[in-house]
Amino acid sequence: MKILLTGGAGFIGSHTCVEIVEAGHDVVIADDLSNSKPAVLDRLKELTGKEIPFYHIDVADRQKVDEMFAKENFDAVIHFAGFKAVGESVAKPVMYYRNNIDTTLTLLETMAKYNVNNFVFSSSATVYGVPERVPLVEGMKTGCTNPYGWTKLMIEQILTDATVANKELSVVLLRYFNPIGAHESGRIGEDPTGIPNNLLPYITQVAIGKLPQLGVFGDDYPTHDGTGVRDYIHVVDLAKGHVKAIEYAAEHKGTEIFNLGTGTGYSVLDIVKAFEKANNIEIPYVIKPRRDGDIAECYADPVKAKEKLGWQAEKSLEEMCRDSWRWQFNNPKGYDE
Ligand code: UFG
Repeated sequence: MKILLTGGAGFIGSHTCVEIVEAGHDVVIADDLSNSKPAVLDRLKELTGKEIPFYHIDVADRQKVDEMFAKENFDAVIHFAGFKAVGESVAKPVMYYRNNIDTTLTLLETMAKYNVNNFVFSSSATVYGVPERVPLVEGMKTGCTNPYGWTKLMIEQILTDATVANKELSVVLLRYFNPIGAHESGRIGEDPTGIPNNLLPYITQVAIGKLPQLGVFGDDYPTHDGTGVRDYIHVVDLAKGHVKAIEYAAEHKGTEIFNLGTGTGYSVLDIVKAFEKANNIEIPYVIKPRRDGDIAECYADPVKAKEKLGWQAEKSLEEMCRDSWRWQFNNPKGYDE
């Protein structure tokens, strides 16, 4: 298949690019580089041995997207491109709705015009809102606590409606849990702009001495040690899930939802300890108040993905911690040399 990766220069997109090429498919990346660096493209060439065709475009730009579809003969689209910072989405909701929804609509319209019928969407476990119980199963109630989450849930609805109307269309909605780690080579990884929002990049920046200490957001949750519990998944496992998903889409019509998680929850302090042990580095931390909008516990029931996609996460927490650190250590400034 020839697969368009929107946002393919980002953290999850770049890792997926490597796995898709390895699985024998062709890829094209479209990315406006608003939250990623052009250097990732050189690294992808190095890892895949292939020059990955790249369009430096905003996927909401109908004309440019149309020109790209006219030139390339796509079989499928994996749509990663989107704004993803929860706090920023609360401050700038209109920007989030405009960008995340517009890009998806533009893709759907252009796909219809060029008769491209396979679509995989980067959704998020955030669509479960405040879970009634864990582990989270795909059929459970949804609802969000911030505009970022609502964009994901609204897009899920839009895509589901589109498959009802167009019987040729296949959509796979992937609800990611917490992707961490990096490619084993240490050549691609997560490169957040500014001070990281997410736990692992924060920890690796403390480890490298860029930040003095980690703030642990709350130690009074009803969890085994009082800190928040999440389902951390190695980004390479997550990337492999996309290969399965796009192959599934090519063989099944309609919409299907899959959790991509490991099924195991770890607390913030579990992660700190695992990182310290795996890498032999101390991570100083202080307990801070809870972060607004955070929930106590969130982890997946990954059974559906195993049964229907034939996919399950394989990498251990130790590998996640080692690979996160290898990337940060080898690239102290991320992609900026
Ligand atoms: N945490 C800290 N200190 C930090 C950063 C995070 O204690 O400096 C804690 C959080 O309170 C939480 C855990 O670490 O308990 C994980 O936090 P992240 O910010 O890494 O991840 P979240 O679970 O909050 O959010 C992630 C993605 C969202 C997505 C969500 C889906 O960032 O995009 O998972 O569940 F919506």
